[in-house]
Amino acid sequence: MCGIVGYTGEREAAPILLEGLKKLEYRGYDSAGLAIRGPESIELQKVSGRIDCLAKKTDNGKSMPGTDGIGHTRWATHGAPTDMNAHPHLSNDRRFAIVHNGIIENFASIREELMAEGYIFHSETDTEVVVHLLEKYYNGDFKAAVMKTTARLRGSYALGILCRDNPGQIFAVRESSPLILGLGVGENFFASDVTALVSHTKNVIYLDDGEFAEIRPDGFTVYDCTGRQIDKKVNRVTWSVEAAEKGGYPHFMMKEMTEEPDAVRKTIAPRMKDDDIVLDDLVIPDEFLRSIDRILITACGSAYYAGCSGKIVIEKLCRIPVSVELASELRYSDPIITEKTLVIVISQSGETADSIAALKEARSRGAKVLSIVNVVGSTIAKLSDYTIYTWAGPEIAVATTKGFTTQLAMLYLIAMYVAKHTGRIEPEVFDQLYGELKRIPKLMQETIDRNPDLPELAKRLKDAEAVFYLGRNTDYAISLEGALKMKEISYIHAEAYAAGELKHGTIALISEGVPVVALCCNEELTEKMMSNVIEVKARGAYVIVSAFAENTRAVNEGNALIRIPKIHTLFSGVLEILPLQLLAYYTAKENGCDIDKPKNLAKSVTVE
Ligand code: M6R
Repeated sequence: MCGIVGYTGEREAAPILLEGLKKLEYRGYDSAGLAIRGPESIELQKVSGRIDCLAKKTDNGKSMPGTDGIGHTRWATHGAPTDMNAHPHLSNDRRFAIVHNGIIENFASIREELMAEGYIFHSETDTEVVVHLLEKYYNGDFKAAVMKTTARLRGSYALGILCRDNPGQIFAVRESSPLILGLGVGENFFASDVTALVSHTKNVIYLDDGEFAEIRPDGFTVYDCTGRQIDKKVNRVTWSVEAAEKGGYPHFMMKEMTEEPDAVRKTIAPRMKDDDIVLDDLVIPDEFLRSIDRILITACGSAYYAGCSGKIVIEKLCRIPVSVELASELRYSDPIITEKTLVIVISQSGETADSIAALKEARSRGAKVLSIVNVVGSTIAKLSDYTIYTWAGPEIAVATTKGFTTQLAMLYLIAMYVAKHTGRIEPEVFDQLYGELKRIPKLMQETIDRNPDLPELAKRLKDAEAVFYLGRNTDYAISLEGALKMKEISYIHAEAYAAGELKHGTIALISEGVPVVALCCNEELTEKMMSNVIEVKARGAYVIVSAFAENTRAVNEGNALIRIPKIHTLFSGVLEILPLQLLAYYTAKENGCDIDKPKNLAKSVTVE
């Protein structure tokens, strides 16, 4: 949940680290810090607050001269977001400075041991034990101290380590937290994510768990956990610097919503060839697909809601039972997973700790795991039997938008692929749906264009105490995500309900003026939804209907309308969510919220 970055080279390190941290701020933004190795000593600056505060405090890095450095942006886990708890942390002898992303699970016992030996702690963090262990084990050999220290740690950690005695040398260690090396000319980098490096280099190495690297201006060496030197593949980043920048938009979220039609095009177009669906180079044997008796989808947050939509489409087309489980809960239920279960893990970042744990649980029970991931080289991608990338490009805003719609599109592709390869779909139905899939990117753009009045509608919502989202079946699945978008960025209480459940309790909350968003794209259920709309209107609700323009019954019943272009009901979710994302955005904007970095959240949730 934090971002770390490191640099060694010929240039001044601090401005480069600040620029990198700014790109990583989506990972956590409650405090930040830098450590720079100066000629005599390690200089440290830390602040509670955002990178801008750190930049101000250090005169944009100019007050911290030196060409080796490490930086950190924090999402607090152990200890409040104060200056003292901010990283980097220093050893008592000021020889070592470290930055850390992850959680040291056995920190309490190590802390006790070190305190008994006289080490003085200055923070409440789990991280601080690491820097004191380095001091304890150092006998002039930097690498040996790093290895002895990490051998003591349990949990997840990406570490960046600076040593006063070793100019032009930084160590970076990876265990269950993302870490990437960036290879420059006369300079080298590490970071939690390529976005922090891409303005300097497109040549990167993805470290694997248990590996660590020594980084120097003129090169790098990667080691396995036994200290043996290993060869690593150098990967070339394919997207541009601009892709990770705002490009004139007021917020990343707006930029990313605008990109959605194109992102979904990139997800589906390469997989739709010669009237058939191909899933990259994946070879999932048909025999295996025919043998599975169940699909289990597991994920967190929006990715979980994408799974809820996917379940309906897969069950309808493949006639295989699908369950959707929250990854954070999966392990506690002694899940029924066998080698006949296909487990689908969905994750934009590929680094969500709960999803990783669920994936490991599934594999330990003999299931094959297919993951739908956006970030190339991420942990979930590496741990899966089969991985399909959504190719949405970098998503920076904490609230996912294109990440979500590309996941939906990928689930549609998978549903059609499995249905065809198990012989459970009639050719003419396949062809009809294939045609509909192809239209999605164009219809997504049309959905955005047809709803120019959402900023006005947001003015109606901005003072609401609560907003309710109702739907049935495919619409209910999307209403869950619509409500999440509203709460996470506008801080307005928003809840989604299966419309049929209203009468079992929730309708008690409806009173004069309460906004209700009624999703009505599932035309077979129009009459039932209309009954619910009439029920809430009778109690004073202000109803915003989302429906196909052709559905006059639905269109005429609301106080306001969201227009969705006609598409097959099974695929309507990928269109229907767009205006809900925009509505949440404009409402948050009306309320002056920090849209890209909502309070208390982080983009990549790497703690359980
Ligand atoms: O990176 P992941 O897709 O695994 O992330 C899962 C959730 O943390 C994420 O979808 C979260 O709910 C977003 N903030 C929603 O906008």
